[in-house]
Amino acid sequence: MTETTVHIDDVAPGVAINPDMWGVFFEDINGSADGGLYAELVRNRDFSFGPRDDPEWHPLTGWTTDGAVEVGDARASGGHRVRLTAPATLENTGFVALPLTAGAAYALTVRATASPGADVRVALLDDAGEAVAEAPVTGDTDAVLVPRRDAAHGRVRLHVASGSCEVWWVSLMPTATFRGEANGLRDDLARTIADLRPRFVRFPGGCVAHGFGLDNLYRWKHTVGPVEERVGDRNIWGYHQSMGLGFFEYFRFCEQLGAEPLPVVAAGVCCQNSPGGQAGFTDAEMDDYVRDVLDLIEYANGPVDSPWGARRAAAGHPAPFGLRYLGVGNEDEITDAFAERFARLLEAVRAAAPDIVVIGTAGPFPAGSDYDRGWELARELAVDIVDEHSYKAPKWYFEHLDRFDAYDRSGPRVYVGEYGSRGNTMLCALAEAASMMGMERNGDVVRLASYAPLLARVDHTQWTPDLVYFDDTEVMLTLNYHVQALHAHAPGTRALPVLVENAPAWERPRTGRIGIRLRAESGTLTVEHASLDAGGHRQQTGLHRGERDVRLPLGARGTDYTVRARVRLEEDGRDGFLVAFGDVDGPDHFEWRFGTWENRFLVLCEVSDGLSDEWTEPLPSRFDAGRTYDVEIRVEGGGKHVVCLLDGDVVHDIAHDGRPEERFSASAVVDDRDGTTWLKIVNATDAAVPLTATLASGHAVSALEITSLTADPGEGRPFAPAPAAPRVSRVDGARWTVPPFTFAVARVVR
Ligand code: AHR
Repeated sequence: MTETTVHIDDVAPGVAINPDMWGVFFEDINGSADGGLYAELVRNRDFSFGPRDDPEWHPLTGWTTDGAVEVGDARASGGHRVRLTAPATLENTGFVALPLTAGAAYALTVRATASPGADVRVALLDDAGEAVAEAPVTGDTDAVLVPRRDAAHGRVRLHVASGSCEVWWVSLMPTATFRGEANGLRDDLARTIADLRPRFVRFPGGCVAHGFGLDNLYRWKHTVGPVEERVGDRNIWGYHQSMGLGFFEYFRFCEQLGAEPLPVVAAGVCCQNSPGGQAGFTDAEMDDYVRDVLDLIEYANGPVDSPWGARRAAAGHPAPFGLRYLGVGNEDEITDAFAERFARLLEAVRAAAPDIVVIGTAGPFPAGSDYDRGWELARELAVDIVDEHSYKAPKWYFEHLDRFDAYDRSGPRVYVGEYGSRGNTMLCALAEAASMMGMERNGDVVRLASYAPLLARVDHTQWTPDLVYFDDTEVMLTLNYHVQALHAHAPGTRALPVLVENAPAWERPRTGRIGIRLRAESGTLTVEHASLDAGGHRQQTGLHRGERDVRLPLGARGTDYTVRARVRLEEDGRDGFLVAFGDVDGPDHFEWRFGTWENRFLVLCEVSDGLSDEWTEPLPSRFDAGRTYDVEIRVEGGGKHVVCLLDGDVVHDIAHDGRPEERFSASAVVDDRDGTTWLKIVNATDAAVPLTATLASGHAVSALEITSLTADPGEGRPFAPAPAAPRVSRVDGARWTVPPFTFAVARVVR
């Protein structure tokens, strides 16, 4: 077996790493705020749900009623008054379930008026519907209830036995929130985040920040002040956000974590995926909006005698929160409308608060037109940091570990605000670990990074993969989470040069067998004809009408071939169809997707390790039912060059740039705060790698104190606990055999 040597240059000055490098990005997606991190147990506690959230919803969604229960006037916050006349009952079963623990204390808050002498009670019910704790309600009520028995599916019941009652708020929260904070966070979830030792928290989105339409832009002012007066809204991910977890709570959470707050405000435009596309505030609206953003800075940092500093103080926090970073925009399409509004906000923030580091955006993808325009704009305006995102397959990360090596050292710095390798397998976790090593190695350019999304509730998820899954009582950590923790627990202030001698070789297995497959993503297809020509060999099929999945079996061999098909969608559905080609039964092939993402884009994808990833920039296109399309795909250059034609026109013409996948990498960081040198290793090959570490200073390595994560590359999946956890070991001397499919951080002991 060849020995691999890792030479660490511990006498070089190295590259400075921002001590705030590793953080988290929290967005209210996947039910991660209400019913998630925010500890509230009552769903729709203020009777504010409605058709704006979901066409089927109304103020009593989430509640069951019995007797005379009437929805009354709306309040300024959007909630409603509800009138109950005896005998009448309202019951709430929580977000998914409402678990109660015997002996635990729950803070009940009811805002109501009762008729004189009315008999109104709130009870907590167990699984059998028996009351396990109770409190009388004579009007506004604040009580602590302690259930006598556990319940997995508890309920909160408000019952009017005589008289009448008008109620507009029923809230129940465990008192044992994270660090005992009132209006606080679910302890186990908050601790899971705290255990990552994040140096910053980005919030409240993501897409949530710029909103689904201008009227849905996240307005931070609606999220502070008395919780009962906060203005909830539709969440872009298709549900309701109460804003109970608002900017005050985010700032407090950051403070408790010892993390820098990194709020993101919209750049005065909404998400380009909103109905009608990107829209921006008018000039006059922008005046107010710029004021809102400056007020946010004042809310966080202003003195108590400033108008917004006073509001912070009124909320119980006279000391400033010490805001240093501000994100402006998220994944926006970089249009003139965006650029104008962004520039205006930037100028205003610079004038009012020159110490704030403004973070701009470079669109949704790590390359392409928005990325180019976003960077161009950032350079032109000398923006401090640019937030760029990459959601790619592991192959892409292994091919781009040197991505930041070539970045301009004199321009804006980088915040990798969202990244994730499309899965929760060990291979994905390894790709992320290696990519983070590349960021650290380029710490002079990459100043901040955060994986996304962070949390996802079982059965309430819009986006996978995520870092942590949870239900009412369980928290499931992923392999990706362990990677984040391993890096964060081995932080550096400088990246040292590392030379790897005899890195293990790795090559992606190739298959010579090819086939094609046409599949409707929703509804059915008619395929009039499909053929595959490879090296003089032809396979073809005749008419298939109204089928979901039409295939030409693997048979032909070769790397260069031509696919032709005449195909149409039979019904308009949510999505279009795809033509897969290559080794369609294996983990590596291609997919040309027609009408992906709700029938809005045309894109060529590469499937590697079983994960599909956009290879070309998605082109806005819709594919209508009933229209027949002529599809031709030419694969040339030994399988590396793909040309796609639609109705005779070339739509994509793309070739692999021949980048190797680096499946083994090693890096080293030193933490000048305590003098620790950390060696970090990713072995994403199936070979055990005998490795020796050396130090350029000539010091002998007397031991390696290793924390390692090992699992089969395909192990790990969403909604399940990670199949492996980090293990601690120690070897005397400088030699260690790195197991296959391992990420390890080792303290280098001299
Ligand atoms: O992380 C989920 C979403 O991904 C974010 O809201 C958005 O910024 C990105 O598209």
